Order: sequence, then C-alpha cells, then structure tokens
Amino acid sequence: MAMGYSDAVMDHFINPRNVGKMENADGVGKVGNARCGDIMKIYLRVEDSIITDVKFNTFGCASAIATSSMATELIKGKPIDDALALTNQAVVDALDGLPSVKIHCSVLAEEAIKAAVKDYYDRHGIEYDPALFAGLGKEHEEE
Ligand code: FES
Repeated sequence: MAMGYSDAVMDHFINPRNVGKMENADGVGKVGNARCGDIMKIYLRVEDSIITDVKFNTFGCASAIATSSMATELIKGKPIDDALALTNQAVVDALDGLPSVKIHCSVLAEEAIKAAVKDYYDRHGIEYDPALFAGLGKEHEEE
C-alpha cells in the first residue's frame, strides 16, 4: 500500500469527484500551500443558500486531490454556512485517514472552501464575523 494510503484516498485520487471549472460561479476560493507550493481552487454554485454544485481544480499531490474530492462531496447539497464548519479532520476521517506527513495537504481543502464561502459572502453583501476567516491565506481572487 503506497505510503499507507487508504482505499478511499486511492479511490478519490484515481477517480476524483467534481473536478473542473465553473462558469459564473457564485463563490471562488483559491489558496496555496506555503509548504509545498501546491494550489487549490474551489468553485461554488449557491441557490437559496444551498450549495447546489461545486467544482475544484487542484495543482497538487495525491493527498491534496483526494481531500479536495472528498471535501466537495461533503459540502455538496449542504447549506453554505455548514461548509464553513467543515474541518480538514472531518475530511481526513471521511477518507479513513491520511499518513501523518500528508495531513497538511488536507488543510488546503478546508481553506479553499472557506475562501470560496468568504468570496460568496463578499459578492452578495452578506455580513459575517471576520474572525471566521482569520488565518486564511490572502491568495483568493475574484473571477
Ligand atoms: Fe502539497 Fe500535499 S504536498 S498539498
């Protein structure tokens, strides 16, 4: 078993869900991992405060791709506010774990989703507590 990856990680790496771009997304988040230089971008479609579609592009390692894929599955169909509550640990648990040296990769998915939700709030004039996004990398962009 390569580096101790679970079957779920291998499945989501080899056959990632929700890969791609989205035209006219309602929220876009882009973050980079300072440790490895990998980049992740998440697109959200939101209707009546529900995430009806989500896509991701990840320029990164197997763990980053697997966690992005699982994270998008976990937030799809959920209220937008619930996406903020998704932790990287929840994504790792859903993947039956990651090797400890790869845990930092899962943080990318959590941060990209948070950045996309923030972008959605910003674009729609929705007020929020800035503390929710404290520590989030600045590298997210309008599109
Ligand atoms: Fe960069 Fe995994 S090594 S995200």
